[in-house]
Amino acid sequence: MANHHPMLLFLGLAVLALQPQIAAASRRPQPPPWCPKKCGGVDIEYPFGVGPACSLSDGFSLECVHDTPQLRLGTEQQKVKVLDINLLHGKIRTANNISWQCLQDKQTGRLVNSSWTGLDATALPYRFSDEDNRLYAVGCNVLVFLNGSVAASGTNDPILNACISTCFGNGSINAISNGSCSGTGCCEMAIPRGLNSYGLVFSGPLVNNSWPGNNWCSYAVLMEAHSFNFKASYATTDEFSRKNHGTVPVVLNFAAGNKTCKDARMRDDYACVSNHSVCVDTVDGQGYVCNCTRGYTGNPYLTDGCIDIDECAARNHGCPDGMICSNFPGGHNCSCPEGEHNSNKSGVLICEPDLKRYSLPVSVIIAIGVTGGIAIVVMSILSSYLVHQRRALADIKRNYFKRHGGLLLYEELNARKSNAFTIYTEEQLEQATNGFDESNVLGRGGHGTVYKGWVAASDDLVVAIKRCKLMDERNRKEFGKEMLILSQVNHKNIVKLLGCCLEVDVPMLVYEYVPNGTLYHLIHGGSAATAAAISFTTRLRIAHESAESLAYLHSFASPPILHGDVKSSNILLDESFMAKVSDFGASILAPTDEAQMMTMVQGTCGYLDPEYMQTCQLTEKSDVYSFGVVLLELLTGKKPLCLDGPEEGRSLSARFLAAMRENRVDLILDEQVKSEASGELLEEITLLALECLHMRGGERPAMKEVAERLGGLRKLHQHPWTQDVVELEEVRCLLSDSPESISFEVDATSSSGY
Ligand SMILES: *[C@@H]1O[C@H](CO)[C@@H](O)[C@H](O)[C@H]1NC(C)=O
Ligand SMILES: *[C@@H]1O[C@H](CO)[C@@H](O)[C@H](O)[C@H]1NC(C)=O
Ligand SMILES: *[C@@H]1O[C@H](CO)[C@@H](O)[C@H](O)[C@H]1NC(C)=O
Ligand SMILES: *[C@@H]1O[C@H](CO)[C@@H](O)[C@H](O)[C@H]1NC(C)=O
Ligand SMILES: *[C@@H]1O[C@H](CO)[C@@H](O)[C@H](O)[C@H]1NC(C)=O
Ligand SMILES: *[C@@H]1O[C@H](CO)[C@@H](O)[C@H](O)[C@H]1NC(C)=O
Ligand SMILES: *[C@@H]1O[C@H](CO)[C@@H](O)[C@H](O)[C@H]1NC(C)=O
Ligand SMILES: *[C@@H]1O[C@H](CO)[C@@H](O)[C@H](O)[C@H]1NC(C)=O
Ligand SMILES: *[C@@H]1O[C@H](CO)[C@@H](O)[C@H](O)[C@H]1NC(C)=O
Ligand SMILES: *[C@@H]1O[C@H](CO)[C@@H](O)[C@H](O)[C@H]1NC(C)=O
Ligand SMILES: *[C@@H]1O[C@H](CO)[C@@H](O)[C@H](O)[C@H]1NC(C)=O
Repeated sequence: MANHHPMLLFLGLAVLALQPQIAAASRRPQPPPWCPKKCGGVDIEYPFGVGPACSLSDGFSLECVHDTPQLRLGTEQQKVKVLDINLLHGKIRTANNISWQCLQDKQTGRLVNSSWTGLDATALPYRFSDEDNRLYAVGCNVLVFLNGSVAASGTNDPILNACISTCFGNGSINAISNGSCSGTGCCEMAIPRGLNSYGLVFSGPLVNNSWPGNNWCSYAVLMEAHSFNFKASYATTDEFSRKNHGTVPVVLNFAAGNKTCKDARMRDDYACVSNHSVCVDTVDGQGYVCNCTRGYTGNPYLTDGCIDIDECAARNHGCPDGMICSNFPGGHNCSCPEGEHNSNKSGVLICEPDLKRYSLPVSVIIAIGVTGGIAIVVMSILSSYLVHQRRALADIKRNYFKRHGGLLLYEELNARKSNAFTIYTEEQLEQATNGFDESNVLGRGGHGTVYKGWVAASDDLVVAIKRCKLMDERNRKEFGKEMLILSQVNHKNIVKLLGCCLEVDVPMLVYEYVPNGTLYHLIHGGSAATAAAISFTTRLRIAHESAESLAYLHSFASPPILHGDVKSSNILLDESFMAKVSDFGASILAPTDEAQMMTMVQGTCGYLDPEYMQTCQLTEKSDVYSFGVVLLELLTGKKPLCLDGPEEGRSLSARFLAAMRENRVDLILDEQVKSEASGELLEEITLLALECLHMRGGERPAMKEVAERLGGLRKLHQHPWTQDVVELEEVRCLLSDSPESISFEVDATSSSGY
């Protein structure tokens, strides 16, 4: 063996002379070839070696005693057993002794301890890995100090840390559990980065250590966290030490030199000599190790030590199934067999056959041609059929649009250049409601269903879309015209009609979305507590606002727009509980011809104008009657129809009229109303309700008057004490229409000495 040595040296010299550029890298002496590669079961790789001649430096020099590699650590030259070497990660694992302390004599308190207390690598290129190791103390009532030093540039700075584990009281019995090193029976502590020497010092027992079953011993060790798994029995027995035969692995990071890569590269003793090697700074920034570059493996500390990885020889073949792997230095390619191409199917590469071309006999070509021709004809027929179908569908839509007077509406809207009203397509509304999804249903009524929807406007606009069930043939023709009028209705107490969709059989209406439910729900729907909480001021305001909006509708156009279905569930409430009258779109304009009148069925039981039921003629005064019922609801908090009462008491209006006759109206008024409103005010407002509910429409006040009187009462309610001249002037003016209010005015003035 030995005589190979000079020849190799000679060869090396020859290379040196021929290729100066490698010369720099080769200045570092390489290990002679006779160095043992193994000791026991451990691979010994350069820079480690058995004996100084085979290793990079003294720090990497190992002894192989009885097939056991040993490393000398520290000033006292403790011999530490090397378990394995991980060259490319820059780590070695060595055996570490478990330190212990036992109470030998319970009477005198005499302690005995293990003699061995630490490791010292200050003079060596090793650090205790802070990533891999933890300090563990095991036992009941143990306090152990870690006294050590951390490498700083050129010096070693002292540190002192402690780990404490106690067992105290019956609660600790449950706290000591398998796998949980939680400070009871076991303590775990991370160590500082760059630790290069340490000792463990036990303190005496912390408290009278009379834990049941205790073996009176404590253990502590710095070890690989990965190899430690606490068991409940460790706390009170010697199992931890016994099971491990007193030693456990500890991980050391080594460094090939004590400079950073940047500085090390300049130096003659730079250790990363292989082609395709790379220098990596150690985590504490105080040294470096070598690695092979991507696609290479081996030993970067040897010239030509890094060799190409043959990825294709790997068990998983380096490529997805069905692909051909081709290795090249530093990497590999995956390709598909001839006649196939690769395709990236959701991140996984697979091979797919190419579309193949064959040279074919003429007859086959003709056959293909004929078949192809037939196919083309069939397809064109099919596609023209589809086009026709689509056109037919478009025709249907266009017909609906025309039939509903859409063209007129469209032209008018264009002429007005108003973008407050939109003609929606069926698709738009389908999209807005997620295909008229059940989850978007806001409510269902006799007429149809109301959906919540989101239409694309400048920003997403929330709307309520009303989809009616059926529509009378006569109503269809006029629909566009009606929409045109209704689209111009603009009052803060009327739900705004934003648009419509005419290209369907029954047109759909798009309204502003009002979030706070209906007045009906506010009065009757919630719990008694919420209903009681509506102040009289709010009731009066809602009544006034609703009356104003109806008055506005009646005066807006000629012929007047009738609501036709005034009821508390058609009065919506917005964020600030402002009333917004809705559903006037369904009532259309006042009928002009007789036939139309006969077929129109309007209104809701309990609110229906008795005169309308006889004459079938819907007038403004029908709305006034229905409003009177709403007013009663507000004043009494009772439903317009109470079906489980005695027959004569079922209708709220009938009960009210009867109470008025008997002068016992107090009995049916809401307690809240009675407590908040003054007697005069109550008298006024019940009188107004009485007038609204007059059997003959002609005797009922107009909506405008109702609104004005309610407005006056609101003012009076707000400022009953500031009856100055201006206010009274206003009140007198507002109330001047009815004789009752005149007498009231006289009362008011006389009481203030006017
Ligand atoms: C560990 O303990 C054993 C016996 O207890 C001793 O022979 C050995 O030297 C110790 N190891 C070190 C590194 O001190
Ligand atoms: C060396 O390279 C290997 C593979 O690329 C990598 O897993 C390892 O962490 C690297 N070692 C160091 C110390 O960076
Ligand atoms: C532990 O501390 C003592 C001083 O209390 C010091 O002399 C000794 O060197 C320290 N041991 C280590 C390993 O740092
Ligand atoms: C760095 O290593 C060199 C030898 O490789 C040694 O002479 C020097 O003392 C070391 N410096 C420090 C601060 O450890
Ligand atoms: C602890 O538990 C034991 C048995 O379960 C009981 O005898 C003892 O009284 C308990 N001690 C305390 C302080 O609760
Ligand atoms: C802990 O695990 C051991 C087996 O490893 C088992 O015998 C013991 O009952 C377990 N103790 C607890 C408290 O789970
Ligand atoms: C351990 O015991 C030795 C004597 O056996 C003693 O000198 C030393 O101070 C003890 N160390 C600790 C930490 O108790
Ligand atoms: C410790 O506890 C034992 C038994 O529980 C008792 O005999 C002894 O006196 C106690 N020692 C001290 C110092 O409290
Ligand atoms: C190492 O790399 C150099 C160039 O960096 C090259 O000339 C030389 O042939 C390489 N050696 C081997 C064995 O690949
Ligand atoms: C690997 O594949 C890439 C692209 O697929 C190609 O450019 C390159 O030449 C291939 N290299 C080898 C060694 O086949
Ligand atoms: C395949 O596609 C995924 C994304 O779908 C992409 O992340 C991946 O890089 C692609 N792979 C190749 C080899 O192109």
